[in-house]
Amino acid sequence: MFLRRLPLLAAAALLLGPIVGPRPAFAGDPSAGKDVFRSECSECHSLREGRNKKGPSLFGIVGRHAGSLPDYRYTDALKQAGWTWTPQKLQWYLSQPARQANPGTRMKYDGLDDAEQRDDLISFLGTLH
Ligand code: HEC
Repeated sequence: MFLRRLPLLAAAALLLGPIVGPRPAFAGDPSAGKDVFRSECSECHSLREGRNKKGPSLFGIVGRHAGSLPDYRYTDALKQAGWTWTPQKLQWYLSQPARQANPGTRMKYDGLDDAEQRDDLISFLGTLH
């Protein structure tokens, strides 16, 4: 009985694998990421180049060196962070409170627990160039 159903199970696995299986890194959905940005980040960040709010503009953030906008007054903690905002670095940074990732930073954010939301958000941010 079970064996006769195997081909069906295999077909289901093939169809569902990409949905329920392990997700490739950063295969996020940018349009969902835009909503994550609106609800989680837009209070403090603009996406417009040169427009800083409480936090610096996030236009072109993927690939940018930390603390490097000339027209934003960063904390020393962020200026001296010494890293570049790769997708991997953003994943790491946003998965925990900002002050834990970068002690001394002024960014008051407790982190985004949902890995899928982080993927979506980071792929959205990656479209802004
Ligand atoms: C309550 C305000 C606030 C929220 C919410 C917030 N941030 Fe920030 N963010 C800041 C501030 C302020 C800084 C500058 C920190 C410093 O100079 O230490 C910053 C800095 C950053 C930086 C470093 C930028 C650079 O030029 O190096 C990144 C990246 C960042 N935020 C991403 C995000 C993302 C993505 C979200 C949403 C998930 C978010 N932030 C939510 C206030 C916030």
